[in-house]
Amino acid sequence: MTGGGGRLGTELQALLPQILAPSSRELDVTDLKQVRRVIEREQPELIVHAAAYTNIGAAEQEREQCWRVNVEGISHVAEATRMVGAKLIHRE
Ligand SMILES: NC(=O)c1ccc[n+]([C@@H]2O[C@H](COP(=O)([O-])OP(=O)(O)OC[C@H]3O[C@@H](n4cnc5c(N)ncnc54)[C@H](OP(=O)(O)O)[C@@H]3O)[C@@H](O)[C@H]2O)c1
Repeated sequence: MTGGGGRLGTELQALLPQILAPSSRELDVTDLKQVRRVIEREQPELIVHAAAYTNIGAAEQEREQCWRVNVEGISHVAEATRMVGAKLIHRE
C-alpha cells in the first residue's frame, strides 16, 4: 500500500494488518525509480494506492508538488503495477 500513514491508509491497515505499507520516504511515488525498485522487489499481487497530496489549502501555491504526487505519482504506481502484473486499487 502507498500512503499507509494517511487517514485512508491507517484505516485500511487496521482491516488488512498483513499488508506492506512503506513510508513515503521508503516509497516516494514521485520517484519512478524507487517505485519500480520497491514493487519489483516485493512482487505484490495487489497494490492499494492511498498516497496523495491532500493539502487543499496549499495546493494553489504548491501546484508542482500537487501535480507530481497526484498525477505523476499515480502514473508511476500504475506503470510499476503493470510491470509485475498486479492489480491496482485507487479511490479518489
Ligand atoms: N480520508 C477519506 O475519507 C478518503 C475517502 C476516500 C478516498 N480518499 C482518498 O484517499 C487518498 C488519501 O487520502 P487521506 O485522507 O488518507 O490523505 P492523508 O491523510 O493526507 O494521507 C496522504 C498520504 O499520502 C502520503 N504521501 C504524500 N505524498 C507522498 C509521496 N510523494 N509518496 C508517497 N506517499 C505520499 C502521505 O505520507 P506523508 O504523511 O509521509 O507525507 C500520507 O500517508 C486521497 O486520494 C483521497 O482522495 C480519502
